[in-house]
This record gives sequence, C-alpha cells and structure tokens, in this order.
Amino acid sequence: MDKFIIRGGTPLQGTIRISGAKNSALPCMAAAILTEDEVTLENIPDVRDIETERKLLASMGAEVELGYGRAHHRTRIRCALLSDPVAKYEIVKTMRASSLVLGPLIARTGMARVAMPGGCAIGGRPIDLHIKGLQAMGAEITQEHGYLEARAKRLRGAHIVFDKITVTGTEDLLMAAVLAGGETVMENCAREPEVTDLAALLTAMGARIEGAGASTIRVQGVERLHGARHRINPDRIEAGTFLVAGAITGGDVTLTGCNPNHLSAVLHKLQECGVVCDLTADTIRVRSQSNLRSADISTEEYPGFPTDMQAQFMALATQAEGTSLVTENIFENRFMHVQELVRMGANIRVDGRTATVRGRSPLSAAAVMASDLRASASLVLAALVAEGETIIDRVYHIDRGYERIEEKLRGVGAKIRRIGNVFREEPESA
Ligand code: UD1
Repeated sequence: MDKFIIRGGTPLQGTIRISGAKNSALPCMAAAILTEDEVTLENIPDVRDIETERKLLASMGAEVELGYGRAHHRTRIRCALLSDPVAKYEIVKTMRASSLVLGPLIARTGMARVAMPGGCAIGGRPIDLHIKGLQAMGAEITQEHGYLEARAKRLRGAHIVFDKITVTGTEDLLMAAVLAGGETVMENCAREPEVTDLAALLTAMGARIEGAGASTIRVQGVERLHGARHRINPDRIEAGTFLVAGAITGGDVTLTGCNPNHLSAVLHKLQECGVVCDLTADTIRVRSQSNLRSADISTEEYPGFPTDMQAQFMALATQAEGTSLVTENIFENRFMHVQELVRMGANIRVDGRTATVRGRSPLSAAAVMASDLRASASLVLAALVAEGETIIDRVYHIDRGYERIEEKLRGVGAKIRRIGNVFREEPESA
C-alpha cells in the first residue's frame, strides 16, 4: 500500500493548476447512459474514482475511452447498447457515488440493478431519497440479495419534495426526470455547482431544465437525448485544500484554472483567520505572513461552508491563535481525522457534532493513517507544518479524489514523496 512521507516546515511558494471536479465528472459520466450517441467530457481529473466509474460503465456494455496527458483529460463515452444494466457490488463497494447510475439506467432501459451501498466511513449515507423519488415517478423497486432492482416502462413526471438536501440524490432524480413523460418539479434540491454542471451537460444533450442551482428545479421530459461535448468545472474542494496548504505553511500560493465564485464560504473563513486572498476571474492567490487567528465553522449545504473542507480547515485551526469551534451538520461520524491530528500534538475535543480546537499547538511528525478522502487531506496539511517526517499510510483514499497531490505540492516546494507503487490497487470502501 502506498504511503506519503512528508517533512514539514517549508512555506509553500508558487503556482498550482486546479483539476476538473471529481464530483461533477462522476454524474456527468453517468449522464452518458441517457443517450445512444457519444458524449465527450473535457477536464476530467485523473483520480481513482473516475477509473472506477469507467469500469462501472464498461461493465454495462458502454464504450468508454479515457485519455490523460496529451489527450487533455478527456473521456468519450458511448452507451449505444447497454447489455447489462447492473452496477455490481464489487464496483459499488469501492465508490458510493455508483448509485448515480440508478436514475439514468431506469430512464434509458426501463430497468436497473444496483448493489446497495454498505456502511461507510463517514456515516450511514443511505439512498432512501433516491428510491422515494424514483417511486414517485412510477418505478417499481424491490430489494433482494443486496441489490436494488428498479423497473418502469417509462418514468412519468412527478412532484418531488426532498425531505433532506442531497447532492447525488438531486443529480440522480434530475437524470431520471429528463427522459420521463411530462413535467417533474423537484423542491428542496441541492444547489451545489456540481448540480449546475450536470444540468448544463444535460441541456446540451437536449434536456429541458429550469432552475438548476436554485432549490426548485423544473424539468419537461423529452423523448430522447443526443450526444454533446462538455467541459467539467474546476474542483472547488481541491482548490480549497491547496488554499489551506498555502495558508497553514505561511506561504504564497497562486491557484490557476479555478472558480473563486464557488469558494466564497471558504475564502471568507480564510480571511477571518487573517489570510490575504487576491482573486481574479479564474485565479486565487493566498498569502499568510502574520499569525493565523481562530475562526468558527459550521458545515452547511452550498453555498454554506462545505463539509468536504471541514477536515482541512480543522488542520488550519490547530495552527491559529485561540479557540475554533468546528461543527459538522451534514454527516455523522466525520471526525475521524481528529484522533490522528491529536497524535500529532493538536489540542481537539469532540462533543457530539462539535469539535473544539485550541491553538496554536506545535505539531510533531507521527505515523498516521488516512481514513477517508478529506480526512487524509487534512493529515497531509498537518504534516506540512509538523516538525520532522510524517508517514501517512493508506493514501489510496487520497488518490480517489486528488490528482497527483504529491506532484502538485512538490511543485510549490513541499517535501513530500510517495513510497510503494500500487497506485491502482483496489481499496475497501470509503
Ligand atoms: C456528495 C458528495 C460528497 C459531499 C456530500 C455533501 C459526490 C459524489 N459526493 O455526497 O463529496 O460530502 O455530497 O456535500 O458528489 N441522505 C439521506 N438519504 C439519501 C441521501 C442522503 O438521508 O437518500 C443524507 C446523508 O446521509 C447525509 C446528507 O443527506 O447526511 C447529505 O448527503 P448527500 O448530499 O446525499 O451526499 P452525497 O450526495 O452522497
């Protein structure tokens, strides 16, 4: 299993180019199921979850070509024949977002078999709201042997009110609604930029959608969709992680190819901590010369502070003067990074959904274990300021969602190297 070895203490300086958003790319790849024509996606990140989705689509009979480097991070997907509309457990267990194929499969083929995602490192993550919405659209859903089986001759438009805001739930039902008969109105939808990105692709494929990015989305179903070409948004969480890397090391880092509009809540908190942020339309420069100040965060749905940045911000809070309260409202059990940060010398106490971080604590290197994608990123950030050489085990979690993070960090002066060479090894679920 690969490990990272990181020697802390170097202020990062230079430029990092931001990759395409994994969480946009995943639903957009699933959207290719909705047409027999070719869908071309650009700015696809070279991360393990994308390879998993390629395998998933290929296992159903789709032709998927993934190209990196000179092929400009492009994928071409053609779902002319979906001979086996099944998302198998072996694939779903490694990536919960596999449930995103449920809606498009029923809409296109009239049937879907999708393995139920199991327990997860960051809370239960059920898909009951996906199921409830599809049932409202006329799908018959049964569950046996760990699989959900859904059938519908043609889905029909429905009025859906989400009990709780769900990002992939909104995306899944949006993909189902575009081919349903009649109008679908969805209320209490997720407003994340990834939903808007998916809606842009679907619209380019011929779907009729109004209101993506707002909490009510209206869809007029169409008979068929056609192929399209679409460029994936920049990854706001990757960008946020590197902003914290610049800030925590007292560095001067410029991100290019990002969208500052998607990062308002994160930028606001960095400024509250005393970090200087200079923005253009697609770059952000962070500088942090003076002492960092504490700030409280409370995770919310977009446009609030993203849960996917909570762990990274907590690493920053350990280096800020004063007490920061970090409240996690989206997922239960998303504080697994805390015990590892404490092992490195942080002063953090967890009480229910709130962690109290008292700073500033000098961190010292330790052998630590990555537990999920974003928790692992917070350990990398802590290691960048820790005294000595930190060894981070199980970095396959990081490889699921960050494109060559060690190369990008080395490019701005970080002392980080990877050991082991099993980058593409299959992990257990996370
Ligand atoms: C997506 C993101 C993930 C991010 C999360 C919240 C992708 C691939 N992943 O995950 O990185 O952390 O949004 O911003 O885009 N819930 C239910 N029933 C459901 C669905 C969700 O109760 O049917 C609950 C979840 O347990 C959680 C909350 O709703 O407490 C939000 O989850 P959701 O927005 O669905 O997260 P994902 O879409 O899985």
